[in-house]
Amino acid sequence: MPITPLDERGHRWAVTTPASTYVIGVEIDAVTGEATPLQKYWGPRLSVEAARQAATASGGPATPAGARRHVSSFSTPVEVEELLPVDGGRRWGSPSLQVSFDHARSLELRLVHTRVLDEEPGAERLDVVMRDAHHPFEGVLSIRARDDTDVIERWTTVRHLPTGAARPVTIGITRLDSGSWFVPDASAYRYSGVFGAWAEEFQLQRGPLPVGETVFTSRQGITSHIANPWIMIDAGEAVEEHGEVWGLNLAWSGSWRLTTTHRPEGGVSVSAGFGHDGLRWTLGPGTELVTPPVLGLYTGGGFGAASRSWHEYARRHVMPAPDEERPVLYNSWEATEFDVTEAGQLELARRAASMGVELFVVDDGWFGDRDDDTRSLGDWWPHRKRFPDGLRALMDGIHELGMRAGLWVEPEMVNADSELYRAHPDWILRMEHRRRDEKRHQLVLNFARDDVRDWAVGWLDELVTELGLDYLKWDMNRPFTQAGWPERGAAQDRLWIDFTRNVYDAMSRLRRAHPGLRIESCSGGGGRVDLGILRHTDEFWPSDNTDALDRQTIQHGFSQVYPPGTMSAWVTDSPNISTGRAIPLRYRFHVAMAGALGIGGDLSTWSAAELSEAAELIEQYKAVRRVVQHGRLHRLAGPPGQARSAVQYVLGDDVVVLVYNPIGNAKRGPRWLRLAGLDPEASYEVVRGGDAAESAPGRLVQGSRWYGSALMGVGIRPAAWEPVGADYRSDLVALRKIGP
Ligand code: DGJ
Repeated sequence: MPITPLDERGHRWAVTTPASTYVIGVEIDAVTGEATPLQKYWGPRLSVEAARQAATASGGPATPAGARRHVSSFSTPVEVEELLPVDGGRRWGSPSLQVSFDHARSLELRLVHTRVLDEEPGAERLDVVMRDAHHPFEGVLSIRARDDTDVIERWTTVRHLPTGAARPVTIGITRLDSGSWFVPDASAYRYSGVFGAWAEEFQLQRGPLPVGETVFTSRQGITSHIANPWIMIDAGEAVEEHGEVWGLNLAWSGSWRLTTTHRPEGGVSVSAGFGHDGLRWTLGPGTELVTPPVLGLYTGGGFGAASRSWHEYARRHVMPAPDEERPVLYNSWEATEFDVTEAGQLELARRAASMGVELFVVDDGWFGDRDDDTRSLGDWWPHRKRFPDGLRALMDGIHELGMRAGLWVEPEMVNADSELYRAHPDWILRMEHRRRDEKRHQLVLNFARDDVRDWAVGWLDELVTELGLDYLKWDMNRPFTQAGWPERGAAQDRLWIDFTRNVYDAMSRLRRAHPGLRIESCSGGGGRVDLGILRHTDEFWPSDNTDALDRQTIQHGFSQVYPPGTMSAWVTDSPNISTGRAIPLRYRFHVAMAGALGIGGDLSTWSAAELSEAAELIEQYKAVRRVVQHGRLHRLAGPPGQARSAVQYVLGDDVVVLVYNPIGNAKRGPRWLRLAGLDPEASYEVVRGGDAAESAPGRLVQGSRWYGSALMGVGIRPAAWEPVGADYRSDLVALRKIGP
């Protein structure tokens, strides 16, 4: 089983996953009695005997591993190796847990007990229960491992134990991370993460990890476009298909903070948790606070293997409906913006249906008096002028065309110019004596309030029921400002946690009430993409930028952690409405076919030839989508969107490859594309040879057969990669394993 005790006292454990081992122990200081949970090892899988050696070799506070780290009266050598370094005692680093008791801020923890729980088949959990030496404070560190993933889950619970005292101590929490992880000693440290802004999310950044403390954070109340709550660390040597990588990922959709500590004398830790600097949560007697999980992953197989493990974990343990195939979607936003009418939408729906679209989503503009973005958020009834008889006829029309029907909503928001705001001006995030700052003319409802959440669940439930909706695009278009809840006084910072929890709760209640309902997470594009919200949603809208070339970079960053089946990708008009770039339809399709394909263009302007080419490409996508959406992803060749590149998917015996060449006559760059992740001994038959009609060395002519070893060793020679030709050439190739 995944968690094996390594000593008699139950103070050391080996946490074993299919390909990794994580050895931890609780050291008890012989003089002070302080308990310090420490990481002893995290890397390739060890036998229990080897894990036992790892557990004893690395020492602890009582026997500092001085050989490894500098020890002096100015530093504590093992701080970076602690599983939850607290603010207290002889520590000066960035704490994962910072607690104050009335006015004193220092924790001294003692071990109470440890226990290993058999949670569900294939999963075990270890709890390390500790209490403060004096105050009624309990902290529980939990670790869960499963036998089908290398992802280890950790979280922390803190409790104010009831004492019955007339004047209980005030317990304030200023930092409560889900856990801290130590990255083993290396000669260099490099980090990878994704950063960006609206319309340019998920830009992959990879560089040396600075010495000192580096903070990646969102203070916006949402995951944010600026940074995504994960990091991968390697020794500067990992590449796509080889090398050791340690990854951490916080499953949370509100404000977050991830702190790396790279000590000058060596040693790197990563601590991650919800909330941002400056927040303070009070913990009343008898109450507890549980963090979201922080997930740790070790792989020896490079960044590609890390991504495949994250994808597999998301599919097995996070997504609510992972076995489904995402339908081909149409969304009307870029075509009509706010000009939503029954006739206009039905005209688009007819064209979409004839192309093979399976789900039609009506975007913003269908409600209240919503003619632009200045009004009506909160007034969730059909637009009085445009839909005087309601939306039923439109939704029925979509269903009659054989498609599922979806609607855009933004439940956490209100415009000042709305009936809702006039009725409930106190329902928003607000502070006394402070302005109520608007962004996109809107204010943020205080979704941490249960009555606000219940109101939203009420109208959403009615809407889904009355219109027979199959899909909601749940949007969120601005960060928090003046984030207060005056009635809650000193306890108001809790809204930063409860807001997100209530969003999750609203979504899960809707799903329970409507088991067929599917939800898209959108926040002005990719502002709320994370493994927290993925537990309640089915796809992400990664960016409002639908330019296929820009999308390639965005999709590359997105795919580092999130599975292709969750990546909604639309084909829109050319020239693109936001970048003005003209790209052929086929290339736009091939880029969008790398995820959950959607169409977002104004179909009323597409020519008959374009509509029929689109229909053909949609059909091709349907033939391969199971492999794309559920397969193992390999990112091949050059930087996507800048040079010749490819993405390859393997599911069982099926292989799909999408090849791209945006710069037609680029002289440099590979001509041969070496495939990956195949069975070297097996033969593969070309099911779809793409453009390679003529037989030439390396061309995949339909029906031809190749050994896996040849496909991986020599490669294929895509016609789209030939150095002379038009810009934006692309292709779709499919192979099937036919036996040894
Ligand atoms: C932002 C989203 O990202 C867009 O796709 C669209 O739904 C608009 N909001 C509508 O206001």
